[in-house]
Amino acid sequence: MNKKLSAKTDEVSRRDFIKTSAAAGVATLLSGTGTVFAQRPKKMRVCLLGCGGRGRDALKNCLEAAKHIGLELEVVGTADWFKDRAMQAGKDHNVPESRCFYGGDCYKKLFETNADVVVTATPPSFRPVHLEAAINAGKHVFMEKPVAVDPPGARRIIQAGELAKQKGLAVVAGTQRRHQANYLRNAYAIKAGAIGKIVGGCIWWCGGALWYKTKGQGESDADYMVRNWVSFAEMSGDHIVEQHVHNIDIANWFIGHPPTTALGFGGRARRKTGDQFDFFSIDLDYGDGCRIHSMCRQVDGTDGGVREFFTGTEGTTWGDGGLKPAKEKDIKIPDFPEYGGPYVQEHVDLLNSILAEKPLNEARNVAESTMTAIMGRISAYTGKLVRWSDLTENKESPWYNLTLKPSAEDFEKGEVVAPPDDVVSVPGTGERRG
Ligand SMILES: NC(=O)c1ccc[n+]([C@@H]2O[C@H](COP(=O)([O-])OP(=O)(O)OC[C@H]3O[C@@H](n4cnc5c(N)ncnc54)[C@H](O)[C@@H]3O)[C@@H](O)[C@H]2O)c1
Repeated sequence: MNKKLSAKTDEVSRRDFIKTSAAAGVATLLSGTGTVFAQRPKKMRVCLLGCGGRGRDALKNCLEAAKHIGLELEVVGTADWFKDRAMQAGKDHNVPESRCFYGGDCYKKLFETNADVVVTATPPSFRPVHLEAAINAGKHVFMEKPVAVDPPGARRIIQAGELAKQKGLAVVAGTQRRHQANYLRNAYAIKAGAIGKIVGGCIWWCGGALWYKTKGQGESDADYMVRNWVSFAEMSGDHIVEQHVHNIDIANWFIGHPPTTALGFGGRARRKTGDQFDFFSIDLDYGDGCRIHSMCRQVDGTDGGVREFFTGTEGTTWGDGGLKPAKEKDIKIPDFPEYGGPYVQEHVDLLNSILAEKPLNEARNVAESTMTAIMGRISAYTGKLVRWSDLTENKESPWYNLTLKPSAEDFEKGEVVAPPDDVVSVPGTGERRG
């Protein structure tokens, strides 16, 4: 690395960056971890919605973060679609059974508890309904990415985020790279002009196939879709949304805004269940001569990589390091703390922001990154060029009100018919075929 791009802490420039950057997720650095505030509460309460693998881990991360900053955090409720999962998560944290809720409306009962903070990690299709309800109930929220599966869902997240701002509530998203020191260092350096203006790049989430479940004998369509959610676009958004959103989020963050159009392709080769594609390749046009190639694949036995690379007018960089300015520049990069890795740091930032009464709000960032991924998926499914305005402004567009069904509301009403397994969109035809 260029010697002048050193890691010396420069408090003034760090504050400026944090205030103005899309990396608002680190605003709490202003107060530092473990700072004692005048009105600082000693204790807060948290509840968990969606007690699967990530939800249970995210709750542990939140508890560890609280310990780190000297905050007592009590788990006061759990909720899941399935009774056994809600009960087990409750048992793990000494929550009485009366506060372990289950079923389609479990979130409503959970939000009636006196929890201050909600940690939620249900499948993405439920996020808009759950975030709206949490904000309406006056809760601070940590929500996993992605945050929607269709354009109306992503717009609902932005609106709920605006309401959270009015109510002084924090919303932090599980796009943890925005709380990861090496990404923050690069974001800072790029914003300070280290590689000039970004004009191109490539972002990847290419790896093997994920797990899948087959439908059990006599199992309802709803239970099947909940258990096998990573195979259905209606639940996950497809893997371009569910996984690749992380890399797309870095592109949007480093470039400073979402793309104007997406044109791409994809296909299905090996999956057995659900209706997702196996691979996507999308040209994201950010305008002003800047294009990013987005690619993602879930196919065993293929070469992989989960990274981002950017070319600027004055240098190049990887997302998480490897900054190579063409010319030496006098940019002092501050130190960014990362206690316990980004999965814990994101909760440190969330809790500190609540205690400092400067609530973080990442709703728009994560909604825009989710929307970008949805834009790529729509282009690959249809074979058409999709404009950002088609999803955000142009009500005449066939995609503005595109709503994937069964929706979260259908699950709550008990009106779920699972899409047939192995029947997928055929680009250029407007049809779905097996
Ligand atoms: N940030 C990251 O690196 C990361 C890593 C893994 C997963 N995730 C995200 O976390 C979320 C959950 O993923 P997971 O791996 O824990 O999946 P999972 O299947 O293990 O857990 C999901 C849980 O939600 C429950 N659920 C489903 N619908 C529900 C509803 N309507 N109400 C209440 N509970 C409901 C399920 O029963 C299940 O227990 C996803 O959005 C995923 O993309 C993020």
